[in-house]
Amino acid sequence: MNTGTVTLVGAGPGDPELLTIKALRLLGEADVIVYDRLVGDGILDLARRDADRFYVGKARSNHSVPQAQIHDLLVEQARLGKRVVRLKGGDPFVFGRGGEEVEALRAAGIEVHITPGITAALGCAASSGVPLTHRDHAQSVTFITGHSKDGDHSNPLMLDWSALSAAHHTLVVYMGVATAKEIAGKLTRHGRDPETPVLIVENGTRPDEVRTVATLATLEHTVAERASKAPALLIIGEVVSLYRTDVAAYLETFA
Ligand SMILES: C[S@@+](CC[C@H](N)C(=O)[O-])C[C@H]1O[C@@H](n2cnc3c(N)ncnc32)[C@H](O)[C@@H]1O
Repeated sequence: MNTGTVTLVGAGPGDPELLTIKALRLLGEADVIVYDRLVGDGILDLARRDADRFYVGKARSNHSVPQAQIHDLLVEQARLGKRVVRLKGGDPFVFGRGGEEVEALRAAGIEVHITPGITAALGCAASSGVPLTHRDHAQSVTFITGHSKDGDHSNPLMLDWSALSAAHHTLVVYMGVATAKEIAGKLTRHGRDPETPVLIVENGTRPDEVRTVATLATLEHTVAERASKAPALLIIGEVVSLYRTDVAAYLETFA
């Protein structure tokens, strides 16, 4: 039997209508779908009915399937000659460990393809009506993770905080709720105005999306008050001053 293929497919931030047409086609053709927790409700309903499905996200115990086990599963299924779709939230190459999966598959001699998805930053910007760049407010944007590789929240982010603290720069933080206090502290210590606005977007593009406005000075308190376990993104910068609840509500009427 011929060896199958694995395609890493970005599922977008949640709303099934944000899938690409290519992702939709691949879901319709897949023999096997390996998916994780951040794949939005309704997306798997669009997949081939008789595809084998493997969930590799966090279980109730809050433990993820180890990455090496995911690699083994992908290799095993491809070696059975299957067309495997590895479905990942957002984009596979933005804080999605897609790079590691590609390396493991190539090392095993498996043909691998990548189909991009809309990353959470872009989904949340659109759903909240906050542009990430704007001629008057931000000339650059950086995506960072608040989560270090070993998951140690006490030591986040060996980053160039001076550069990230420049005014008129938008910072989008993935997995940054647990380290929000440290992030706000680093930015203000490096000169960012404590009154810089922050938009916290939970469950962006999903029916249960929640947005909360804070400032760097109030971020720790606001995050603690929300106490939410939902996937959330922090958008930090002058662009957040453009957030208007009435406009966002208006955008939602087209959702
Ligand atoms: C492991 S990263 C995966 C990112 C994904 N590959 C992407 O491109 O969006 C998971 C983090 O992405 C962010 N995220 C993913 N989906 C989100 C959503 N619908 N709303 C807000 N944040 C989201 C959260 O910060 C979450 O903790």
